[in-house]
Amino acid sequence: LTKVCDVSDTPPSSWVECFAGVITPGGRVLDLAAGSGRHTRYLLGRGHRVVAVDQDVAGLPAAGAQLEVIAANLEDGSVWPLGARRFAGIVVTNYLHRPLFGHLAAALEPGGILIYETFQRGNERLGRPSNPDFLLLPGELLKLADRTGLTVLGYFSGAASHPKPAMVQRIAARAPE
Ligand SMILES: C[S@@+](CC[C@H](N)C(=O)[O-])C[C@H]1O[C@@H](n2cnc3c(N)ncnc32)[C@H](O)[C@@H]1O
Repeated sequence: LTKVCDVSDTPPSSWVECFAGVITPGGRVLDLAAGSGRHTRYLLGRGHRVVAVDQDVAGLPAAGAQLEVIAANLEDGSVWPLGARRFAGIVVTNYLHRPLFGHLAAALEPGGILIYETFQRGNERLGRPSNPDFLLLPGELLKLADRTGLTVLGYFSGAASHPKPAMVQRIAARAPE
């Protein structure tokens, strides 16, 4: 028997599922470093318009009326690829490039929701990523929210067991109205 692997079967993060309901229904959501698009698909399924950005867009669903796909290198020091656009929600998972932090809060509409989840220090003892450039420092997402005036709706820092043992940090935060 041949097992067919379909990346679109990858389930959304439970953190994203928990907080997606806080995003204004039908609002436009940015899936940054969207990868194979597990959250793009999830958010489309919830009725959002989605802008998915990644340097490799091959695994993303085809662009259409509800989905805009942007192929961009987010780390080459060039212009932020979203210009002055604003979003009702921004989702970032398993991706860290600190120079983008300032753009995240600035790209939220009033009342917009940032949902961020990625690996933190300590993960190097469990596996990859182990490069400190890709691991959040203790409290780093809380500091990001504080520095950019976001109200924290939820925060977690610690060990996760799914989909693999990892040290993670998660935040959901709202921009001022
Ligand atoms: C571990 S995957 C996470 C994908 C998705 N957010 C998820 O959680 O399923 C990291 C993603 O970051 C993207 N990425 C890495 N470096 C990038 C860069 N310089 N510019 C744009 N995307 C980048 C990769 O192509 C990959 O899709």
